[in-house]
Amino acid sequence: MRIAVVGCGYVGLVTGCCLAEAGHDVIAIDSDIARIKMLQAKRLPFYEPGLDVVMEKATRGERLRFTSDCAEAVRASDAIFICVGTPPLESGDSDLSAIDNVARQIATAARSPKLVIEKSTVPVQTGQQLRRALEVYGCAGVSFRVASNPEFLREGSAVADFFHPERIVVGVEDQQSEQQLRDIYRPIIEGSFNCPVHESKCPGGAPVLVVTTIESSELIKHASNSFLGLKISYANFISDICDRLGANVEEVTRAMGLDPRIGPQFLNAGLGFGGFCLPKDIQAFIRLAEKHGVGAGLLREAELINKDRIEQFVGKVRNALWVVKEKKIGVLGLAFKPNTDDIRFAPAIEVIRRLLAAGAHVCASDPAAIERARAVLPRVQFCSDPYEVTRDADALLVLTDWEEYRLLDWKRVYVQMARPLVLDARNMLSVQTMKAFGFEYHSLGRPDVAAEFALASA
Ligand code: UGA
Repeated sequence: MRIAVVGCGYVGLVTGCCLAEAGHDVIAIDSDIARIKMLQAKRLPFYEPGLDVVMEKATRGERLRFTSDCAEAVRASDAIFICVGTPPLESGDSDLSAIDNVARQIATAARSPKLVIEKSTVPVQTGQQLRRALEVYGCAGVSFRVASNPEFLREGSAVADFFHPERIVVGVEDQQSEQQLRDIYRPIIEGSFNCPVHESKCPGGAPVLVVTTIESSELIKHASNSFLGLKISYANFISDICDRLGANVEEVTRAMGLDPRIGPQFLNAGLGFGGFCLPKDIQAFIRLAEKHGVGAGLLREAELINKDRIEQFVGKVRNALWVVKEKKIGVLGLAFKPNTDDIRFAPAIEVIRRLLAAGAHVCASDPAAIERARAVLPRVQFCSDPYEVTRDADALLVLTDWEEYRLLDWKRVYVQMARPLVLDARNMLSVQTMKAFGFEYHSLGRPDVAAEFALASA
């Protein structure tokens, strides 16, 4: 099928590259000419494991090309995915101006019938507005069909998620649109397509195709992301109880997760959820509900718990250090989660800002996000070598759970630090191990290893 993907951000680029890899002819469009030039030169604007391989294969096979000419791409395609950003407005609502803009461009360019698919995360009823915009601005005699096909890609494993989804949701109004979307996803629905990367991580089995109305499909995305946020905040609520009353959140959530009605995922307590999806989606969902007279106290509380994580953790740092001013604090992790260079709404960045405001000297490391963090944290010293941030540090903070941090030579870290104090905001290190090395160690909802009990065996 001939497909246009409008928007070469995170969602659009992954979608475009993977649809081309699945055998379609894809034109990916972005109004940012510098970005298009970068992609034409086969360079990715962000880090996503495996995407470089998929893009390279698809462009070499001439199934994928990049352009800033939306009109030409629209005319050359049967189906058009809208993957532009819907960032939060000051009010918390989603800013849908980019969708409106693309709709007008598609409408004025099209000379034959098109299927226009919203993939960006949007509030319910955006499909109706999209159809109206296409009709109002379109040429006489050219018809449009609208569909919703939300994405469930996680940064850091988006390629595997694309080729091995648990479900593909399509919101449609007519049989032809459903058939077209079935054709687009056929290799994935039939499970006949093997992910070109991450084989070991890919689950077997074909996905469930869920066909709904457009409104339900739009709602599924907001409802899913908000529920994930809710689940994390619930784990963090349990963590606070554990901190006050002496239980261990890891033990509690592990046992909870063994109940298949609850499930083990997204129950990790810590610094809370960040990134460009969960926080903004929960906010937009609250706005949507309240605008339509549905109380959203449940989600508001989840949001409050999440925001409070930063304060809680910084409080722990203050308690442990007594005076923060002039202290040298090493930071491991800047990205909002591992395997990405994305720092948008990253809790780590907020924690660092507060420590800087309190007069600390911060030295930070991250396997992928240093360059992005440099732009927003000019007063921080950055080191690509994680051991460098531990040298002479009064405290070491683990703010993103990159696997390589678990595997550090912690004996070496102990020797290098001015004071062997570790505060683990992601509960990624073992309390027993840190105790055995002699660290004073604090995490969230788990027992502290206090300095006076440290064994100093390292
Ligand atoms: C999220 C959803 O998981 C995807 O399904 C969805 O497609 C995507 O948003 C989107 O809307 O585009 P993503 O933003 O990549 O994906 O990140 P998640 O893996 O959901 O993690 C979000 C945050 O929650 C991270 O900061 C992570 O550290 C935190 N988290 C996650 C926890 O604090 N505890 C957990 O147990 C799990």
